Amino acid sequence: MSKKLYLETLGCAMNQRDSEHIIAELNRADTYECTDRLDEADLILINTCSVREKPVSKLFSEIGVFAKHRKEGARIGVCGCTASHLGAEVIRRAPSVDFVLGARNVSKINDVMTRHHAVEVDIDYDESTYPFGEYRTTRYKAMVNITIGCDKSCTYCIVPHTRGEEISIPSDLIVREIVRAVEGGAREVLLLGQNVNGYGRRFGVGVVENVKNFTELLRTISRIEGLERIRFQSPHPLHMDDAFLEEFATNPKICKQIHVPLQSGSTRILRAMKRGYTQENFLERCAKIRRLAPEAAISTDVIVGFPGETDEDFEATMAVLEAVRFEQMFSFKYSPRPLTEAAEFEGQVDSAIAGERLKRIQARHNAILDEVMHAQMGRIHRVYFDERKPEGRIAGRTDDGKLVFVSGGEELLGQIRDVEIIRTSRTALDGRVI
Ligand code: SAH
Ligand code: SF4
Ligand code: F3S
Repeated sequence: MSKKLYLETLGCAMNQRDSEHIIAELNRADTYECTDRLDEADLILINTCSVREKPVSKLFSEIGVFAKHRKEGARIGVCGCTASHLGAEVIRRAPSVDFVLGARNVSKINDVMTRHHAVEVDIDYDESTYPFGEYRTTRYKAMVNITIGCDKSCTYCIVPHTRGEEISIPSDLIVREIVRAVEGGAREVLLLGQNVNGYGRRFGVGVVENVKNFTELLRTISRIEGLERIRFQSPHPLHMDDAFLEEFATNPKICKQIHVPLQSGSTRILRAMKRGYTQENFLERCAKIRRLAPEAAISTDVIVGFPGETDEDFEATMAVLEAVRFEQMFSFKYSPRPLTEAAEFEGQVDSAIAGERLKRIQARHNAILDEVMHAQMGRIHRVYFDERKPEGRIAGRTDDGKLVFVSGGEELLGQIRDVEIIRTSRTALDGRVI
């Protein structure tokens, strides 16, 4: 009989892909079936995120709940970024945890399962050529890692301390994985890395590689037959050179959706964040994207209340929002993180002030989004349908990443069709297949 796995995944797409790898690896040793019922699970895993304080502080109360309601003999494992940065402390604070498995140590899951209170959190561990087993939550789209780790040192960010140095995955492994996903029914791939356009700077020991950079990798991948849509997450604005932007704009397989993480619009704050670009550079890159690919949607991340941020600095961020009119914006209140430089900076911003700034920027972005979405009315979009929804509806994404619902049956799944938009809202579009 198969065992039951309760797996909670927090954080980014990279964690989602790690969770798929975890399931694949577990299934090499045993047969596991996912469940959303805690009380019937044989194994309970939390794949954690460290990027902001809140989910970390909730982790221990959550472990308490899991320990109380678990089936007798069920094991609890803490995986992911918080596992990396807290290590054995997780077990000291919560002895009901059976093992701790850090990000980029996923291939050790079957090993830690056999050892009492095992802790594997080596952030230098190289899984860039590890042949993970096959598991995907959907057959229509494939997430594929192209780099692990992060070589930047943004002063607010804990990721380099949880995922270690950047290593690129050999292009032949990436291509092989995509080909397999396409054979299984995927027409879209999402390439993953903390800084995808850093691809090609360093490979694992002994790897010989011909593909030199991210732009070349995109060209190589776009030659895969049967693959129709390529997305990637996240590029760094500093490394968006002209060759890359031209490839983005002209390669028909590359979806016209691009994440350009701003963080702050103030050059002074960007310097304190060690982002490597100025407000001017950032605006120039976005203007170039708008010029080369006017149909593209630009999304961004913003942090408000970074140490030392004045009203004037915040206005500079608002000015960038006005200038670029991002189609999507993820905005966060600065959260001081252990091991980061900024946590020690003077001038930590009062939480109420940061909260006000967050409210203001979100309100302004919502107004922009209302206009962007309303303007879709009556337009025809190419939509890739990949998910069944309740009440006879099917969901998909436009090339530029907008969520679309239509009435229809299963025959639409895995299809790319022209859709006329008949209703709009801030978060999604309703359409009719034509
Ligand atoms: N590598 C990706 C981002 C990973 S973290 C990139 O550079 O785009 C995702 C987002 O969380 C970041 O873009 C940033 O906006 C936010 N973030 C990171 N550290 C943070 C912190 N200490 N406080 C608040 N938000 C943070
Ligand atoms: Fe992803 Fe960052 Fe969270 Fe790690 S800390 S899971 S990389 S969002
Ligand atoms: Fe790296 Fe992104 Fe942080 S590039 S240092 S994870 S904001």
